Amino acid sequence: MPDTPQYVLAIDQGTTSTRAIVFDHAGTIVNSGQLEHQQIFPRPGWVEHDAEEIWTNTREVVGVALTRANVTAKNIAAVGITNQRETAVVWDRTTGKPVYNAIVWQDTRTQKIANELAALGGGSDRYKSRVGLPLATYFSGPKIRWILDNVEGAREKAERGELAFGNTDSWVLWNMTGGVNGGVHVTDVTNASRTMLMNLDTLTWNEEIAGEMGIPMSMLPEIRSSSEVYGYGRLGGMVPQVPISGILGDQQAATFGQACFEVGTAKNTYGTGNFVLLNTGEELVPSENGLLTTVAYKIGEKAPVYALEGSIAVTGSLVQWLRDNLGLIKSAPEIEQLAASVPDNGGAYFVPAFSGLFAPYWRSEARGALVGLTRYVNKAHIARAVLEATAFQTREVVDAMNADSGVALTELKVDGGMVSNDMLMQFQADVLDVPVIRPQVAETTALGAAYAAGIAVGFWEGEQDVIDNWAEDKRWEPSMEAAERERQYRLWKKAVTRTFDWVD
Ligand code: G3P
Repeated sequence: MPDTPQYVLAIDQGTTSTRAIVFDHAGTIVNSGQLEHQQIFPRPGWVEHDAEEIWTNTREVVGVALTRANVTAKNIAAVGITNQRETAVVWDRTTGKPVYNAIVWQDTRTQKIANELAALGGGSDRYKSRVGLPLATYFSGPKIRWILDNVEGAREKAERGELAFGNTDSWVLWNMTGGVNGGVHVTDVTNASRTMLMNLDTLTWNEEIAGEMGIPMSMLPEIRSSSEVYGYGRLGGMVPQVPISGILGDQQAATFGQACFEVGTAKNTYGTGNFVLLNTGEELVPSENGLLTTVAYKIGEKAPVYALEGSIAVTGSLVQWLRDNLGLIKSAPEIEQLAASVPDNGGAYFVPAFSGLFAPYWRSEARGALVGLTRYVNKAHIARAVLEATAFQTREVVDAMNADSGVALTELKVDGGMVSNDMLMQFQADVLDVPVIRPQVAETTALGAAYAAGIAVGFWEGEQDVIDNWAEDKRWEPSMEAAERERQYRLWKKAVTRTFDWVD
């Protein structure tokens, strides 16, 4: 194998697992490694990860991917990082140790902090015109505040400049570039746009908001574009001296990997949750219908591109819940067969408001509900209701997008784990009444990060390469009668109202 770099490595630090994937110049997967990490649930509504486990796993999966691909670091032109967004890690710059477990994006413990900030005036939209986000438990800022308020000695250390905050992109990057021995403390604009601390127009930290949340500015990483060289793999590490040159939050990475570069193009990723992003170009579009305004990507010196986002907290993780907490299926893919054994949901609707409801409702106090039950309903109907919940929640955010943008979506590009489920994809097309399209490389999240990294070092020239490499695999056309579609959607909406105002 020649020593000219012919590949790009992407690290996808997700909610349930960390993956490393080696891509070639055509954007195809050469090989990969993957490891799950522990999901820690200390109390109802709390979700944590062990950041050290995540870093150990990252190193291991990079090693596995390189070995399986039969390449060494010398064959790698660049490394891109993509990550679960919002999840907050606070670590000690001197010891390199996290001061507390990472507080995960799904965690609802910051509801009180969010309520207190809202009560300062302006309600839950207090910061929305500046940061594009409503006050909700989802975002990083209040999670940092919680750690500083609750971990002994943390606030004093933070005020002395000894602590660093990062989402898992910054945590992985800092460690990869040397950690306590000179690691770079950087994030990209897309991750920063999910903290509630960044001005969307200037792409700089907002000191006033950080001040109100009690977060010292010294904790925050430097904000950079999504595609530029941030640093190099440390000597003695897995990718010594290889440029690390792309960072995108996972949903933005998928948008990039799906080649959604035109204004009005959208993708939906079916992961732990679902996230629909609609490219709005260089224009910042405020939402009046419960969506987020967020940065889609920024390539080097070029102008930032923005998006409207419909974030749905629980979709794929509901299937896992059915497997792990109820034992109704043994493996996630089994759900399709079970659901297909009945012709419909038997009247059952499952609203998985496990982390409250995200878009378009933003109700932290909501909790899950299974409604419409009769003795007729069996586990197959429940399996069906679980799959349908993903499609109905997607319809709700697409409706909000159509209302915000004034243009109806004409097709939806999809990716992520659940898109291999034919029944769900057909139902999705039926419920939306638009075609649903799956690309040949369904790993668009990792691919998007690889492209961002490769573009920065000239491995790819730019977005045109992404467009040229993108290819359709399968398309589902809507086939449901309009009256039936609207009947089911009406019942879904009714079911959603049953979850409201649950937590005191
Ligand atoms: O905002 C949360 C999102 O980035 C998590 O995505 O795919 O890791 O569940 P995923």
